Amino acid sequence: MTGKMRILGIESSCDETAAAVISSDRQILSNVVRSQLKEHAAYGGVVPEIASRAHIMHVEQVILQALRDADMTARDIDAIAATAGPGLIGGVIVGLMTAKGMALALNKPLVAVNHLEGHALTSRLTNDVPFPFLLLLVSGGHCQILSVADPGQYRILGKTLDDAVGEAFDKTAKMLGLGYPGGPVIEKMAAQGNPERFTFPQPLVGREGCDFSFSGLKTSVLRTVEHLREQSALDDTAAHDVCASFQATCGTILADRMTQGIRMFKQMHPEGKHVVVAGGVAANHYLRAYLGNACERSGMELVAPPMKLCTDNAAMIAWAGIERLNAGLPADGLDVTPRARWPLDNNTR
Ligand code: KG4
Ligand code: ZN
Repeated sequence: MTGKMRILGIESSCDETAAAVISSDRQILSNVVRSQLKEHAAYGGVVPEIASRAHIMHVEQVILQALRDADMTARDIDAIAATAGPGLIGGVIVGLMTAKGMALALNKPLVAVNHLEGHALTSRLTNDVPFPFLLLLVSGGHCQILSVADPGQYRILGKTLDDAVGEAFDKTAKMLGLGYPGGPVIEKMAAQGNPERFTFPQPLVGREGCDFSFSGLKTSVLRTVEHLREQSALDDTAAHDVCASFQATCGTILADRMTQGIRMFKQMHPEGKHVVVAGGVAANHYLRAYLGNACERSGMELVAPPMKLCTDNAAMIAWAGIERLNAGLPADGLDVTPRARWPLDNNTR
């Protein structure tokens, strides 16, 4: 496809129903995100069945709103991009089937987008970051370091052996009775706490490679919280201090692993100058600043998308669709399958 393209993106892989229209000259013409926080609040986490049903209920309205905000009708769209995985399969099916229906009815190309590729390429939409770059992908379901050479060309250098870092934030918040999602509330609590009060383990720090591990940290936080409770010492100050100490430990772990990743990346791509941090956890101000400093010490520049494009949205899905078409990658057939699992370095469709 040549000339300016306008593409509709649809995202439904977790607990946000989202639609957006993006143009190939990097304009965000609309970006609608309907969060399901209220539906899941009572359960302390995302309930897949409830998520699927909420996506079905709202996907059409969200798409229509995105088109209205962009001042367009469906016919004006040049292509439709939808998350085809990885994620909660019920939700992925809803978004992808809706996209297929629209592609068929409107006779427009369909692009099946890997949700992680959406996170990976957002910084090119907002900051025009050149390839190749090192990607630190930190979300609720993923924690990985990848080298990105082009759209569709990802190499995983390291990944978590157990929990994702966002999951550790969510579980820590749950232990403290702070609700879901944990990231934003822990960040707020941590701002008033003493990060040096508790010493938590830093799994894999100082080791070869750039894999991650968070389960030892999680268990240690749990023991600390239980101990404070037994002593009736879990007051506001203690809760703030647990959050601050936990967040600082995450910073140390992520910075150490990222620095290792940079070393590996430089051997493959000496010309690469950028590290991109993406995914929900990249919305954390403390971690952004901490990782930014660590990058500088390694002679690299950290790029993080604006906060609202860090957590799940459809602008990133639409943009990934544009990048794929611009790179000459083929559109997908209507038989493309939704996937619960889909590693970013797996290019089969
Ligand atoms: O990318 P995302 O919206 O969904 C997934 O694909 O997982 O990421 C959600 C994750 C949750 O675990 C949430 O607690 C975390 O991102 N998160 C944060 C912050 N905002 C969201 N973690 C730390 N600090 C934040 N400010
Ligand atoms: Zn995500």
